[in-house]
Amino acid sequence: MTTPDMPWGAYAPGMAGLTGTQPSAAAVPGAPAPEVPAPPQQPSAGSAATRSGEFTPEAARRDVPVLQRPVNGRPLVWLDNGATTQKPRQVIETLAAYYATANSNIHRGAHTMAREATEMYEGGRAAVARFLGAPSPDGVVFTRGTTEAVNLVAQSWGRANLGPGDEILVSTLEHHSNIVPWQLIARERRARVVPIPLLPDGSIDQDAYADLLSFRTQLVAVSHASNVLGTVPPVKEMTALAHRYGAKVLVDGAQAVAHFPVDVQDLDSDFYVFSGHKLYGPTGIGALYAKPEILAGMPPWQGGGNMIDQVEFDRVTFAPVPHRFEAGTGHISGVAGLRAAIDWLTSFGREAVAAYETALLGHARQALAAVPGLTVLGDAPGKIAVLTFTLAGHDPVTVARWLDQEGIAVRAGHHCAQPSLRHYGLDAATRASLALYNTAEEVDRLAASLTRLQTQAAAV
Ligand code: ALA
Repeated sequence: MTTPDMPWGAYAPGMAGLTGTQPSAAAVPGAPAPEVPAPPQQPSAGSAATRSGEFTPEAARRDVPVLQRPVNGRPLVWLDNGATTQKPRQVIETLAAYYATANSNIHRGAHTMAREATEMYEGGRAAVARFLGAPSPDGVVFTRGTTEAVNLVAQSWGRANLGPGDEILVSTLEHHSNIVPWQLIARERRARVVPIPLLPDGSIDQDAYADLLSFRTQLVAVSHASNVLGTVPPVKEMTALAHRYGAKVLVDGAQAVAHFPVDVQDLDSDFYVFSGHKLYGPTGIGALYAKPEILAGMPPWQGGGNMIDQVEFDRVTFAPVPHRFEAGTGHISGVAGLRAAIDWLTSFGREAVAAYETALLGHARQALAAVPGLTVLGDAPGKIAVLTFTLAGHDPVTVARWLDQEGIAVRAGHHCAQPSLRHYGLDAATRASLALYNTAEEVDRLAASLTRLQTQAAAV
């Protein structure tokens, strides 16, 4: 069903700039002027870093206009990347250029622009498949994001495959998007959601996991990186173990895909989900990958246009996968933006970005260790650059407001992952979540500001 992956610029010169690797003619208020136009297929900013095998955050920062704005009179330090990432001009301009030059519905209509939009949309599907190491674009379903993708699996696969007494093992470090959909379908199917406990360092207790697995286990839901603790569980090994019992495994990549390379075939994931907006792309677009043979056996979960073959009043037949799961008009511009984000991120070299973020995490740990009364939650080896912490004498919201006054954006609260915090006896904490455009200087500003807060409190 998929059309060939054709970059728009290749056949539509008026649309140059709609992929993330080409210069854009679109004017975006506040965005830096485009750099010297590069010929098609040549990587844009970040390519120098890629060629040298090293990544420097300045290359990325130049592309992200919002990082230039002040907040409360200070240069913005965006450390809320776990909630959402900021967007490079390649993504912003792609969205603007799509609406300025190429807007059309897809998979219907016999006109040129419908055909072009369809090719762009299916090209985006192929780009997501390559990004995830998927064997074919037919295993990729576009969704609103991670949450909708998990709900899709729960409502379609879950309703068809879960029954009384079946078990869904869900790790304690999941965010609510990978807990609540399972609770809803378990209640309906009289199945059980069983938590997999954590160890004190925030890693998943692998002995407990092995003990919990049984032939009652139908599905294991596990995060590829925790949004609160930064833990990166051994999902490949966990998947192999689950498969011995015939269980399927859903890996939640919401916090993983921006930070390190993913290969769903190597992991042998049955399902893999992620959101575009945590990957430098637009909100409202994300994807579900499913093994094509599993997807092919799943019933539709939403009805409407685009997902059908024939509709009569006494019968209906459905489109093949993946279209069967994309009822209605989707987020077409979002797919263009997501592809631009993937192109942008990968232009820097995934391994180089991961190495940089690991080094930045090391710096951040040292800097925060010097702040009096600060305790970081989660110390699992190999964690991503997420630092959730408590500060003695201050509630997390007060800490976040203090930082905000200095232009530093962090998240405070339960982080949509209450069980992770309860593991540490907490119901709230403050979180700094880092991304490729963050610098050691920004981390130092965070630590200095927190130290000032403590010093000021001690002086009162
Ligand atoms: N799951 C998102 C976060 O961690 C919303 O902030």
